[in-house]
Amino acid sequence: MFFNVVDKITISQSSKKHFPKYKSYSRPFSVIFAEYHLVFIMQFCDLNRQYEAYRDEIDEAVHSVISSSSFINGKEIELLETELAQYCGAKHAIACSSGTDALLLAMMAYGLQPGDEVICPAFSFFASASMISFLNGIPVFVDVSPTNFTIDADKIEEKITLRTKGIIAVSLFGQCPDFEAINELAEKYGLWVIEDGAQSFGATYFGQKSCALTEVSTTSFFPAKPLGCYGDGGAVFTSNDELAHLIKQLRSHGQVQRYHHQRIGLNARMDTLQAAILRVKLKHFDEELFTRQTAAEAYTELLGDWVMTPVVNEGCMSSWAQYTIIVKNREKLRADLASKNIPTAVHYPIPLPAQEAFSHLAHPDEVFKVADLLSDTVLSLPMHGLISLNEVETVAKAIIESMQD
Ligand SMILES: Cc1ncc(COP(=O)(O)O)c(C=O)c1O
Repeated sequence: MFFNVVDKITISQSSKKHFPKYKSYSRPFSVIFAEYHLVFIMQFCDLNRQYEAYRDEIDEAVHSVISSSSFINGKEIELLETELAQYCGAKHAIACSSGTDALLLAMMAYGLQPGDEVICPAFSFFASASMISFLNGIPVFVDVSPTNFTIDADKIEEKITLRTKGIIAVSLFGQCPDFEAINELAEKYGLWVIEDGAQSFGATYFGQKSCALTEVSTTSFFPAKPLGCYGDGGAVFTSNDELAHLIKQLRSHGQVQRYHHQRIGLNARMDTLQAAILRVKLKHFDEELFTRQTAAEAYTELLGDWVMTPVVNEGCMSSWAQYTIIVKNREKLRADLASKNIPTAVHYPIPLPAQEAFSHLAHPDEVFKVADLLSDTVLSLPMHGLISLNEVETVAKAIIESMQD
């Protein structure tokens, strides 16, 4: 129910083996639950299972970097950047130290000045707005859509002023906002748009990949992200040669050549070890996306009559960074699931405008109705690139039991 997936990921043979065809799978819940409850404790995002699946390749990649003693920049970074750019369809990918630094680099490249306003969603991870403040800009919050929780494009125009310089549009939980409308508005008012694609690497929007939908986009390779490394990591994407050149400079102390600094920059490079790990994981990424997609469909089929399940907008395919439901009695459900060793998470319990760090910006009469409602009712369920159908069914069964209580 509510599902409207237009694009399809290529289904490889090895993905099929992770997931028997869903509808033909008919073991009773009680058997499944007994088997899996006894064998292991379910993980919200099972990175250990992922490591076991690719252990030989990852170990070899890590050893190869260590034995080369090339820990900063080098071949692995260059190869990763080429592969990331090819994957998304952007001309340049610039690997960097985190998704937060990627946002910072992107806004520095656009020359954000103190007092400049940047529009951003009222519901996202802190960094989507905090990096604006970090550069002494002013985040201007816009409420989000009640269907896919991303910035509500219809509410942006009323927030544009003479001081507005750009829009940070977050592809939340793996799904893109209405970029057609957002890019159109930006063009009308001469603004830049940065896609914060920290959660959406691999997602598509009318056939085009996330991270290639705006002039500059960013992503995060935090371990639990759809494509995650073994520490912090991120990337900036652009097809603009000048901006790419500038972002590369800014990433490395504003250097043009060793010890020649043209501008003030950061040390925001990605570790070469992380690049080597990411190159291994990127090879398996489409298979993992397929598993996430299948798991999401199964969750929706099992839970659609019990809770509000995610809506995927027409023309979009989510990368399912999170599978997030809406429930009224969240704390009871969380406790019931925890008692059965089923982990859940709340993304996010406080809307951005209500964060203490932004209290100086608060306008007392301003209401962010959807963001407020979501922060009280969202609940993210276990989801990762190697989740099994048995686990999805176990979670669904426990939710239904809790609802029937
Ligand atoms: C939407 C969003 N933006 C930015 C970031 C920051 O990424 P990182 O943790 O790699 O700095 C995150 C990370 O959780 C995120 O979810």
